[in-house]
Amino acid sequence: MGTRLKGKSALITGSGKRSGIGYAIAKKMAGHGANVIITDLGENISDADQVSTGSLSEMDDIVQELSNDYGVTVNAFCVDVTSSESITNLVEDLKERQITVDILVNNAGASFGVPNAVHTYDEDKWMATIDVNLHGVFRISRAILPLMFGKQGKIINIASRAGKVPPLFNGAYAVAKAGVIMLTKVMAKELAGAGIRVNAICPGQIMTELEEWRFGLEAKVYETTPEEREKEMCKTIPLNRIGNKDEVADLALYLSSDESSYITGQALNICGGQLMEL
Ligand code: NAI
Repeated sequence: MGTRLKGKSALITGSGKRSGIGYAIAKKMAGHGANVIITDLGENISDADQVSTGSLSEMDDIVQELSNDYGVTVNAFCVDVTSSESITNLVEDLKERQITVDILVNNAGASFGVPNAVHTYDEDKWMATIDVNLHGVFRISRAILPLMFGKQGKIINIASRAGKVPPLFNGAYAVAKAGVIMLTKVMAKELAGAGIRVNAICPGQIMTELEEWRFGLEAKVYETTPEEREKEMCKTIPLNRIGNKDEVADLALYLSSDESSYITGQALNICGGQLMEL
């Protein structure tokens, strides 16, 4: 337990699933004294295209767990980042319950229609992937920002290494994450005068359900097993291992605390050295 975010309020999208990065960030922030707002789809709409989503019962369990373990206030809301109506309802609920937001973590993400090359990609799935990963960040930020003005707020966008280096057959996701990196920089410039810092985190390979799904997909493309894909992947990572979600949560904690007070508009890699940029 720590006190680095004591008295702050943090809203994290896509945080209603224990196996995901969003939950790890919510837990880390609660462990440092923040009141947290868990948001997720609230229903399992998984299909062949994507991993499971945060369900209502898991969100309820997380509320109980974090409030009991850390003594902070935890609220949960069903929010679909692709629906303006759903986001409007969230803002109305927050205002009605007088819940403020100091820290916004745009974490929700998904990929549809992979593996496919650009010339074989289904148009609706391409659009849906960009909608959730990029436009979702725009929609939520636009709606929540009015609640953050005057509060030295922080926004953390979970982008990806895929937004900097093209992955194979996952083009819509890569394009969306590159967009998230630029959106981060745009917002950082626009909001600096208001004292709001905006940064992106670019994870490499982090072991979550999404990552396991990805190894499964790649195994099909390369006609091998998911375990072999993971081994092959580790050979491309100087630290020679897949990262864990707690390590991403530590970086999110740093970016949301005053310890990073001179950092804004950056897209920080957390990838075991897999990507080294000048
Ligand atoms: P995950 O699939 O476990 O979690 C994604 C969360 O987003 C889920 O809780 C899901 O319910 C939620 N979500 C999906 N669509 C949504 C929508 N329309 N509205 C609201 N919530 C929605 O994935 P993971 O691995 O935890 O990823 C979290 C973030 O980190 C994502 O943005 C992902 O793109 C990014 N990332 C993950 C990497 C990894 O290696 N796991 C690598 C690079 C980036």
